[in-house]
Order: sequence, then structure tokens, then C-alpha cells
Amino acid sequence: MSHIPQTPVPQDLSRPLPMTLPRLQEKKRLGEPIVMVTAYDYPSAQVAEEAGVDVVLVGDSGAMTVLGYPSTVPVSTDEMLMLAAAVRRGLTTPLLVGDLPFGSYEGSDEQAIATAQRFIKEAGCDAVKLERGGTSVKRARAIVDSGIPVMGHVGLTPQTATALGGHKAQGRTADRAIEVARDALALQEAGCFSIVFEAIPAAVAEELVPKLDIPVIGIGAGPSTDGQVLVFHDLLGIYDGHVARFVKRYSEIKAQMVAGLAEYADDVRRHAFPGPEHTYTIDEQELEHFRAALSR
Ligand code: KIV
Repeated sequence: MSHIPQTPVPQDLSRPLPMTLPRLQEKKRLGEPIVMVTAYDYPSAQVAEEAGVDVVLVGDSGAMTVLGYPSTVPVSTDEMLMLAAAVRRGLTTPLLVGDLPFGSYEGSDEQAIATAQRFIKEAGCDAVKLERGGTSVKRARAIVDSGIPVMGHVGLTPQTATALGGHKAQGRTADRAIEVARDALALQEAGCFSIVFEAIPAAVAEELVPKLDIPVIGIGAGPSTDGQVLVFHDLLGIYDGHVARFVKRYSEIKAQMVAGLAEYADDVRRHAFPGPEHTYTIDEQELEHFRAALSR
């Protein structure tokens, strides 16, 4: 192997620089809001890329929004990896975070590292996310120590929503808010580069954010977090299951898709599609030869 330095590949300066962990940290320092969104396939990744978001999460919410499961719990690692690999193919600039699914990391540090490595090696993710404090703090530390960046997630953690009493806001009593604070600080101490606060009172987040050095991304945690995340299908109106209080709809894409398909179905039934502009032609003489051949 040669030790002669290679000439750097010239960079296209018109393209935004890929998001990195130091750049995310710098955004927090400068008070520049971090924009994060979920994506689950190639087209949604391309949309996130073109819209200029900072971080894309292949969330296990995809279990519900794209795979049709009733909750995030049943989705497997293989299913998540297939979604994440498709997102990777549509993404260049944002940081790509893969969500470790329920049951794929809680058992042992070895299991957590092995699953996290699959997200990096097989799907091309830059980092992984796991839920909860408690034993997840130990798993986060093990994954970080293995060289993989980890994002934490506290407050409402859908993978263990049953144990939390359902899909409802957390940290609404002083005791529960203290638990959320302890979990967040422990995950930071374990080496997480960022943390999601889901469904906690805005006033609790406002107290906690200044106590954390790492960027805090909120979903239903009010305006004081360093960034916001929403589920792609919620914000664009593609998913019409239960919509949480913290979702703002920016589009009604499902209604547009249904209208488009209904118009297509109507055109087909009225013989209005395909029109001449959608069909191929053949030279008249060639057609005659063809007809003659057919009639023989
Ligand atoms: O799975 C997901 O989409 C998430 C976000 C809500 C943070 O975990």
C-alpha cells in the first residue's frame, strides 16, 4: 500500500455539505434549529434530501405507517434494515439514523452491538437510535464504545407504551419529570450524541434542555428543544390512523393520491385512457405484413 497522499477529489461546492455529528453540535451552540423527519423508502428519502432536512430517522414508526402493523412492537430487524437500505439509496446530505426495533437490543450488550452493526454495515446508516433509560443506558454505552453513534429517546417511548400506561404524555408529575431528567442525563453520560424528547410538557423540556450539552430533538416537547422531528406520513397527511396532538399537518397527500387514483379508474372505465398520446405507432406497411402473417 502506498503512503503517498492522494489528491483530494474536488468537491461540488454548490451541494450542501453532508451533516456530521460536530455540525449538529455546532447547530445547537449557534441556536440554529435542527430539522429531523422520518423516512422509510427511496422516494421519501429523496423528498427529505430535496427539502434540505438535517437528520433523517428510519423510525420504527414505519411499522405502522408503511407496514401496517398496529404498533411499533412487531417490526423485525430485517424489515427495518430493508427500509433503511432503501432510504440510504435516496439520501446524500442528511445524517441517517436507524431505529433499533423492540427486542433487538435489550437482551445484552452483545445483542445491542450486533444489531447496531447491521444497521451500519448492511443499511449504511450513520447512527442508531434506541428507546428508554434504565438498561438502555448500558446498551447505549456499549454501542458507543463499539464505535457507533447513538441517539437516545425518552419521555413517551412507544416500544414500551403498555408499561407507561398507553400512548400518553409523560413527565406530567414532578416524580415522572425527574425520571425523564435522570434518563436523559444518563444517556448523555453514556455517550449519546443527541436525544429525542417525546410527548413531555413544554415547561419540563424548557427546564431540561439547558442542562444537556447534546442536541435535544423534540416531538411533542414544545418549542425550547434544539430541533423538531415529525413522522413523514403524519406531517404530509399520508397516514390516517390516530394523529397525536403534537402533529401539525402540512399537506393532505393521501386525499390527493385517492383523488388521482379515482380519476384514473374513472378514465379506464370510460375508455378515456390511454389516449393516442400514450400509445406507440407502427408503420402502415409493417402492419399490413403483420396482418397478412397472422391470417396465414
Ligand atoms: O419511530 C419514530 O418515528 C420515532 C420518532 C417519533 C422520534 O421514534
